[in-house]
Amino acid sequence: MAKPKVFVTRVIPEGGLNLILEACDAVVWREEVPPSREAMVAKVQGVEGLLCLLTDKVDAEIMDAAGPSLKVISNFAVGYDNIDVAAAMDRGIQVGNTPGVLTETTADMAFALLMAAARRIVEGAEYVKEGKWQTWGPTLLLGHDIHGATLGIVGMGRIGAEVARRATGFNMQVIYFDPYCDPDKAPFVDVELRCSLDELLAESDFVSLHVPLTSETEHLIDAQALDKMKHTAVLVNTSRGPVVDSDALYDALAGGQIAYAALDVTDPEPLPHDHKLLSLDNCLIVPHIASASWATRTKMAVMAAENLLAGLRGEPLPNRANPG
Ligand code: DGY
Repeated sequence: MAKPKVFVTRVIPEGGLNLILEACDAVVWREEVPPSREAMVAKVQGVEGLLCLLTDKVDAEIMDAAGPSLKVISNFAVGYDNIDVAAAMDRGIQVGNTPGVLTETTADMAFALLMAAARRIVEGAEYVKEGKWQTWGPTLLLGHDIHGATLGIVGMGRIGAEVARRATGFNMQVIYFDPYCDPDKAPFVDVELRCSLDELLAESDFVSLHVPLTSETEHLIDAQALDKMKHTAVLVNTSRGPVVDSDALYDALAGGQIAYAALDVTDPEPLPHDHKLLSLDNCLIVPHIASASWATRTKMAVMAAENLLAGLRGEPLPNRANPG
């Protein structure tokens, strides 16, 4: 029997890729950068399954280019704002994602960014590399204490809860804003302080973002929100770039409205080398690597492959993003 045709938009870790190569007639995009729009339209024609990344915009046009054979779109990410889920539902296409397996790895990174910002780790390393280290200095590279500080978590889902758990281990006070989280069912134990977004912004020494990107959360952190934060506050973003208004963030950092930003995600993404945020000393940016551990990326690959294969068999996906 002929194997199902699929398009895989990038090389993923082999634990997942091999499952796909064994079971499918797969075309794999082997470039480092994503397929262009034209390439996507050409490559999806007649496929039954599409395994895509957060860098691939999968909308009605792509689904229609694939045609009626397309049964499943499997995203190699927990976030799926790159996929038009409503358009997929209209066409009876299942959409899969990779929740759970990257929770702790992403929380580790959010906490690493928080600590790097508070204690000026990157500036310190650059200072040494640049040959500026002459002596121990009483006021050299002073930062802010993490213990005893207040951490405001915006979005108390799986990842937010794991960041909270880490923070309580560091004797931080944790508060959170999440209009959708049921406190009785919250997946954490030590966090009691639920508050409004305004209260969180006003009281937090560190604000860490853990919301999906939706029309409701786009530019949630805008000029007004930044104005409500402490002048000493640090903003950490490991969610999606557009949750923060980049222009407003630049103004807040350049004008001293907030002290520091540590970003795993940006808008636009990737951030052009000459972007104004990169001209700031108080903005630390890494290239969307919060889930990038060997173990986690392998688990994501296997999960994405299993979603794809289940969809090709016409079965419900083990991890389905759109309701059935
Ligand atoms: C996701 O999965 O949504 C992350 O942003 C990348 O791992």
